Amino acid sequence: MALTSELGKQIKLKEVEGTLLQLATVDNWSQIQSFQAKPDDLLICTYPKAGTTWIQEIVDMIEQNGDVEKCQRAIIQQRHPFIEWARPPQPSGVEKAKAMPSPRILKTHLSTQLLPPSFWENNCKFLYVARNAKDCMVSYYHFQRMNHKLPDPGTWEEYFETFINGKVVWGSWFDHVKGWWEMKDRYQILFLFYEDIKRDPKHEIQKVMKFMGKNLDETVLDKIVQETSFEKMKENPMTNRSTVSKSIMDQSISPFMRKGTVGDWKNHFTVAQNERFDEIYRKKMEGTSINFCMEL
Ligand code: A3P
Repeated sequence: MALTSELGKQIKLKEVEGTLLQLATVDNWSQIQSFQAKPDDLLICTYPKAGTTWIQEIVDMIEQNGDVEKCQRAIIQQRHPFIEWARPPQPSGVEKAKAMPSPRILKTHLSTQLLPPSFWENNCKFLYVARNAKDCMVSYYHFQRMNHKLPDPGTWEEYFETFINGKVVWGSWFDHVKGWWEMKDRYQILFLFYEDIKRDPKHEIQKVMKFMGKNLDETVLDKIVQETSFEKMKENPMTNRSTVSKSIMDQSISPFMRKGTVGDWKNHFTVAQNERFDEIYRKKMEGTSINFCMEL
């Protein structure tokens, strides 16, 4: 499958078990699937645009005991190897993870179904962040507009169909969130919601801290809350993707740190789209106990 980006480039995608992935990832699939996880790995797992960069910065701040300078050691994309990332001839995510000393903190957007099996076999810790589907759709739409390594999203109306049919890179939001939610009581999974972190960051950061086996005092926690605010991270070159070439991410089209709010979907969905979405959501999420408040 090939789609044309705004630069007119051909973006090649391929399906693995019904999930669209970037061609370079699929070309590297056997290396990814045979990845050897270690029991002390912590894997940050998200559907794209659910607040991955935010939770990565929070985790790193906790790991570094609130030391801002240590978190400035590298751009966020380099601090936590991205398991399925591949862009030859650069080292792949798997290669970067292999070169990293333990205990490792890694990142993935893969669904439970596509995750390298050794993560389950080694009973690793998983930190999953879910974001309500409507805001994820809006954020992903703008991201595809500015990211020239992803297909052109087309019009909002066209993208709405693409998204609800799961024909985006990393697949269906519904399958992703459901899959991870269903695993949460069987493995060591801390399941968080973007909306909760937004509402009460200190409380959610404390949960992450405990999950990581750390114990930081109140002043450090307050500092982490401040340093990981949207405003701070938007200004921080180590988190705001300003070091990425314009030929890959054109932030004049849409900034990477775009709005960082809950409920921006209300500025995009028509009443008819909202009704249709709610109906699809009910059907797709039937039988799960997950409770997203979409009227945020
Ligand atoms: P918006 O496009 O809605 O602004 P990811 O890192 O998974 O790609 O997610 C990106 C989304 O998370 C963007 O959403 C971005 O603005 C938001 N985000 C990043 N850092 C944030 C923060 N500190 N607080 C709130 N939202 C943040």
